[in-house]
Amino acid sequence: MSLLSYTLLALSLAGARAATVSGSADVNATAGASGSSVDMVSAAWYTGWHSDNFTLANVSWDKYTHMTYSFAITTPDVKQVSLDGSDPDLLPQFVEQAQKNGVKALVSVGGWTGSLYYSSNVGSADNRTAFVKTITDFATQYKLDGIDFDWEYPGTQGIGCNAISPDDTTNFLSFLQELRQDPVGKNLFLTAATSITPWKGPDGTSLSDVSGFAKVLDYIAIMNYDINGAWSTAVGANAPLNDTCAPAANQAGSAVSAVAAWTVAGMPSHQIVLGVPSYGHSFHVDVEDAFHCDDNGDDNGVLASFPPFDKAQQPSGDAWDDGAGTDICGNQVAAGGNFDFWGLIDGGFLNANGTVADGVFYRYDECSQTPYVYNEDSQVMVAFDDATSFAAKGDFVKTSNLRGFAMWEAGGDSNDILLDSIRQAAGFETEDDGEDC
Ligand SMILES: *[C@@H]1O[C@H](CO)[C@@H](O)[C@H](O)[C@H]1NC(C)=O
Ligand SMILES: *[C@@H]1O[C@H](CO)[C@@H](O)[C@H](O)[C@H]1NC(C)=O
Ligand SMILES: *[C@@H]1O[C@H](CO)[C@@H](O)[C@H](O)[C@H]1NC(C)=O
Ligand SMILES: *[C@@H]1O[C@H](CO)[C@@H](O)[C@H](O)[C@H]1NC(C)=O
Ligand SMILES: *[C@@H]1O[C@H](CO)[C@@H](O)[C@H](O)[C@H]1NC(C)=O
Ligand SMILES: *[C@@H]1O[C@H](CO)[C@@H](O)[C@H](O)[C@H]1NC(C)=O
Repeated sequence: MSLLSYTLLALSLAGARAATVSGSADVNATAGASGSSVDMVSAAWYTGWHSDNFTLANVSWDKYTHMTYSFAITTPDVKQVSLDGSDPDLLPQFVEQAQKNGVKALVSVGGWTGSLYYSSNVGSADNRTAFVKTITDFATQYKLDGIDFDWEYPGTQGIGCNAISPDDTTNFLSFLQELRQDPVGKNLFLTAATSITPWKGPDGTSLSDVSGFAKVLDYIAIMNYDINGAWSTAVGANAPLNDTCAPAANQAGSAVSAVAAWTVAGMPSHQIVLGVPSYGHSFHVDVEDAFHCDDNGDDNGVLASFPPFDKAQQPSGDAWDDGAGTDICGNQVAAGGNFDFWGLIDGGFLNANGTVADGVFYRYDECSQTPYVYNEDSQVMVAFDDATSFAAKGDFVKTSNLRGFAMWEAGGDSNDILLDSIRQAAGFETEDDGEDC
């Protein structure tokens, strides 16, 4: 039906795959990239809880190679993962649509609110064996191509009430190895969503050797977002491409530092997919802090770098934002303040074509290679990603020989403005022009 399906054979004959994963099923099955990058990944997460707004029909399937349904959450019972809250009834249709379009259908297990019981589910040899069965049965039941492990985070606390053990990362690897020994597991496409530094080992520091994981996972997706937000000391980029050029106090990590950290630890660059956000974080910044003053004390309408913000006045984000309330751990939390890319358009920060709206201030930070917008009336500043920053990220994917990109989340984009930009820069076909072959 598309470039994807009919070129599979030709692409597989080219046979380019830098890292061979024994037992992995993806050797010939992924495609969609142009030129020599025959098995590059153009992926996103599809969130079941937004399916009434971003339907399966809204997905630009022909622009993706992999789509990951979110989330199956871990439960206290090692024999079960749960799709509660993620539109369980939609998953079969999701898988069917993906596969019909030549897109690999994965389910992500865990997530920020769904990782409470990962540690105990892999916490003993018996539990690992049981969890392998849980995962393979689940994959078989839904006819999945693969599983994405989004454990946030092994060996270090995430949301605040996860079970946690110093042995988490060791147990996680043992579990994945056992999964690869399984007749079903050996044919699954296995990925992991990771933080910007390698998993924490028993001593609480990042592993210096992740090569064992590289042998059992097809790829990792580095979640290079939420690097700055309401928890930061100053406004900063959600998804910095680079930060070595930022003041030391504002170097919170970046795609550049993350890829360096993971590759030094033994994850081949071709098994790294860059996680990219289709949303930004908002901050309340007083007008007197928002602008950069020159030597004459004039602001010239230029937004300041790393201005202070007022946590107590956290703005609400768009219609998909989590409002203030009680989280799954029972803790009171403020509004998330997230704006999806479409939400920035709805909210009047951007025009429908993604350019900055009249009367809104815009700054493209050359260090992080990400944009900021500011509405002087509402005193809301948003650090986000646009077509320009996605092009920079796509270029980085290409020049760093990464496997591709994965966007959180598919439904955050508007008219594929972000998706088209990163695809083009990363070297994917921009038009599905093979239709008439
Ligand atoms: C991949 O394709 C090649 C050539 O068509 C074939 O020989 C090989 O068996 C395929 N491998 C898998 C895992 O399907
Ligand atoms: C989802 O809802 C928002 C807000 O109503 C809207 O702007 C956006 O276009 C919707 N998405 C789709 C895919 O319809
Ligand atoms: C999303 O899909 C629905 C039908 O499922 C359609 O009515 C709506 O217009 C689509 N939204 C966009 C933004 O394409
Ligand atoms: C094994 O799983 C059970 C629940 O299914 C849990 O109660 C137990 O604590 C787990 N064992 C370890 C060592 O984590
Ligand atoms: C990151 O910044 C450093 C210097 O600050 C520079 O040498 C390097 O090329 C930059 N990398 C990218 C991908 O922008
Ligand atoms: C984007 O939309 C704005 C507002 O409609 C318009 O002024 C501008 O020319 C458009 N830019 C491009 C590149 O199409």
